[in-house]
Amino acid sequence: MVPPKPAVLVTRRMPSAVLAQLDAVGEIDLHTEPDDLTHEALCARLRGKQGIICVFTDRIDAAVIAAGDQLRVIATVAVGFDNIDVTAAATRGIVVTNTPNVLTGATAELTWALILAVTRRLGEGERVIRRGAWSGWTFDFMLGTELRGKQLGIIGAGRIGRAVAAVAPAFGMRAVFAARPGGDVSGPETAAAVLPLDQLLLSSDVVSLHVPMRAETRHLIDRRALARMKRSAFLINTSRGPVVDEAALVWALEERLIAGAGLDVYEREPRVHEGLLSRENVCLVPHLGSATRETRATMADLAARNVVAVLCGRPAITPVRLPTGGRSQTAGVRRKQEGFASIRRTSGDTES
Ligand code: GLV
Repeated sequence: MVPPKPAVLVTRRMPSAVLAQLDAVGEIDLHTEPDDLTHEALCARLRGKQGIICVFTDRIDAAVIAAGDQLRVIATVAVGFDNIDVTAAATRGIVVTNTPNVLTGATAELTWALILAVTRRLGEGERVIRRGAWSGWTFDFMLGTELRGKQLGIIGAGRIGRAVAAVAPAFGMRAVFAARPGGDVSGPETAAAVLPLDQLLLSSDVVSLHVPMRAETRHLIDRRALARMKRSAFLINTSRGPVVDEAALVWALEERLIAGAGLDVYEREPRVHEGLLSRENVCLVPHLGSATRETRATMADLAARNVVAVLCGRPAITPVRLPTGGRSQTAGVRRKQEGFASIRRTSGDTES
């Protein structure tokens, strides 16, 4: 008798070429609505499934994982996997995969788009024109900040941080990376440009965040960090919202402790802090880091190939490794207080 095909839950509409790959090896249960499946629905629909393709807004916690009684692979269409209880998955022998590398370019591009938008006041200028408030060119109207000769401080020296740094010379900027205590940012391209976090904050004109979301990176940018930044500096976040304490950021903007911010991610998406919405010197975009047609198609394809590999008994292409050390939350908070989150690289860091 031919064994039944394994079933795979796909929580979002995906390109048909991607679904065709899955169809060749399994039965697809496709969630076609734009809204996330509720926690309850996720649990119910995972029963009997051997694989799931999900996105970062799906909360794959221990209860969901336990509901997947036949589950063998969880493939997230994202580089960050902070929405998945990877320890619970590992305990049950379930492979977790993500989509590193393929979104590095798109996310680095969006980071530069935000740097340029906020330093040259593009959102503000657009709003002036659209509300009919532009009365013509004047010599000192809407002056921005030039990038040439300035310092770009990058926190998180993973793939995306390095890709952002690589562009800096084209704008005449010097890129520096934040150092970890007891360790360097390795790689020849960064060897000459590593500063302790506090020094990076004190001396950079633009600070850009590219760390994965972990206990030790939650609120890495808090009041203390913001108070160290130059009054003329800008903060850019394309990593994960909770890396920045949003209330502290609003405070810093109100107190004019920094010059502005460019944000792609928020603490409580899709909600955005009122204090950010009302500020002209903040450029806000709705979590678009990897949102190009090309990149999303490649991400979905990689997720599907991961599922097919595992269901066919082959090793996953881009498996997530458990964050090394399995450190406790308390240890993470202590490290943050010591001055910098010791960001270890795993294959799946948002690295962002
Ligand atoms: C998106 O935020 C991702 O982690 O890929």
